[in-house]
Amino acid sequence: MALLEVTDLNVKFETNDGIVSAVNGVTFNVYEGDTLAIVGESGSGKSQTAFAAIGLLARNGHATGSVKWDGQEILNLPEAKLNNIRASEIAMIFQDPMTSLNPFLKVSEQMEEVLTLHRGMSRREARAESVRMLDAVRIPDAAARITMYPHEFSGGMRQRIMIAMSLLCRPRLLIADEPTTALDVTVQAQIMDLLRDIKDEFNTALILITHDLGIVAGACERTMVMYGGRIMERGTTEEVFARPTHPYTLGLLEAVPRLDRREDVLPTIPGEPPDMLKGFPGCPFEPRCPMREPRCATEIPPLERLTDTRVRACHRTPEDVA
Ligand SMILES: Nc1ncnc2c1ncn2[C@@H]1O[C@H](COP(=O)(O)OP(=O)(O)OP(=O)(O)O)[C@@H](O)[C@H]1O
Ligand SMILES: [Mg+2]
Repeated sequence: MALLEVTDLNVKFETNDGIVSAVNGVTFNVYEGDTLAIVGESGSGKSQTAFAAIGLLARNGHATGSVKWDGQEILNLPEAKLNNIRASEIAMIFQDPMTSLNPFLKVSEQMEEVLTLHRGMSRREARAESVRMLDAVRIPDAAARITMYPHEFSGGMRQRIMIAMSLLCRPRLLIADEPTTALDVTVQAQIMDLLRDIKDEFNTALILITHDLGIVAGACERTMVMYGGRIMERGTTEEVFARPTHPYTLGLLEAVPRLDRREDVLPTIPGEPPDMLKGFPGCPFEPRCPMREPRCATEIPPLERLTDTRVRACHRTPEDVA
């Protein structure tokens, strides 16, 4: 059974300018110990897909469809019931650790509170476990540094502390939303290594949300590509990178900086990301797609299953794209 089962998820936001359809018919599963990357440009609906699934939408947002956690429907569950699951089974880390860490409390106080509150530990046990988790995320000299304040750590170290905090309740699923975007390249690589080690050590399932395809290979078993709030394709990371079946994926891969290709200007996909207020009668990528056909503007391509691992939504055939 899937740990998280998302079926036909739709998210709409009410705004002064009209309705924003941020997520449209998104379906995917996450299994125990699974690693799924959700990739796509800014505004493609990656974060809202995750937020809706775990009940963290903004007030003006509304989600429909189905989200099952461990077989139980949790979409639009009352806040109190969701809090139970979120506190103990699902953890989320964000791009900027400072928004989640309290600057006025020592790291030890913030970590120990979680453990005394949610896992019923004594102060002494909580300290020992907190230090152990800081060790696990490779904070040097954790036993001494745990009594420092967040601002006394570097950005990369703060992100490690956030990861340690998110693991305190031993979640079964960790959702990391652009966890390395604010960090420089070397530190990014270290954090990605760390996330991989954590998966191996604690068997935590991971959803990694990123616009950076460069960090996905090696970190995630499977990749889901989104655009305009829709799934463009999904497959094993190896398949998606080696044999993309969607023109949008091709464009994204072209735009990844490569060591064997020195260019002054990074290629980007020409054209503007879609205006989500407008809604699309067809494929959201159609206006920018180099392979578009007339029907792409008028008919939404259905999500088509190619194999056990692969789905795609495109009117052109996989052979056309390859
Ligand atoms: N509270 C809100 N009200 C109205 N529109 C919103 C709201 N939150 C998000 N949106 C819109 O929903 C769409 C999807 O947003 P989402 O945050 O999922 O993008 P994303 O893929 O995570 O992009 P990024 O890489 O920039 O984080 C965007 O067009 C965004 O402007
Ligand atoms: Mg986002």
